[in-house]
Amino acid sequence: MLKTKNLVVGYGNVPIVRGVSIVVNKGEIIALLGPNGSGKSTLIKGIVGLAKVFSGEVIYENIKITGISTDKLVKMSMDTSLSLIMFSCVLLLKKT
Ligand SMILES: Nc1ncnc2c1ncn2[C@@H]1O[C@H](COP(=O)(O)OP(=O)(O)O)[C@@H](O)[C@H]1O
Ligand SMILES: [Mg+2]
Repeated sequence: MLKTKNLVVGYGNVPIVRGVSIVVNKGEIIALLGPNGSGKSTLIKGIVGLAKVFSGEVIYENIKITGISTDKLVKMSMDTSLSLIMFSCVLLLKKT
């Protein structure tokens, strides 16, 4: 399960996504919808360590992974479904 709690993500000193809480259960397919510039990519980047998390939490299977760098997340995701999450997020970001 992947969860965010009141996540605030942005760039530099500017928070863009403010207070997002989502839950994605194992095997679940979800859609993140919103107009251009609404912060969809920024939210994903916050989850995978590519944007700055100001506050809130990212939780994977009850482990707090908030603010862990992308390369560290990739290393710790080996042989777990977190690697699928990381891979999916990177693919998403390449397209959008
Ligand atoms: N690297 C960045 N530095 C500063 N602002 C950014 C950066 N990337 C995106 N933004 C800004 O963050 C806002 C949300 O963008 P983004 O998350 O890409 O939206 P979406 O993916 O929903 O189209 C936009 O106002 C955009 O200009
Ligand atoms: Mg986008």
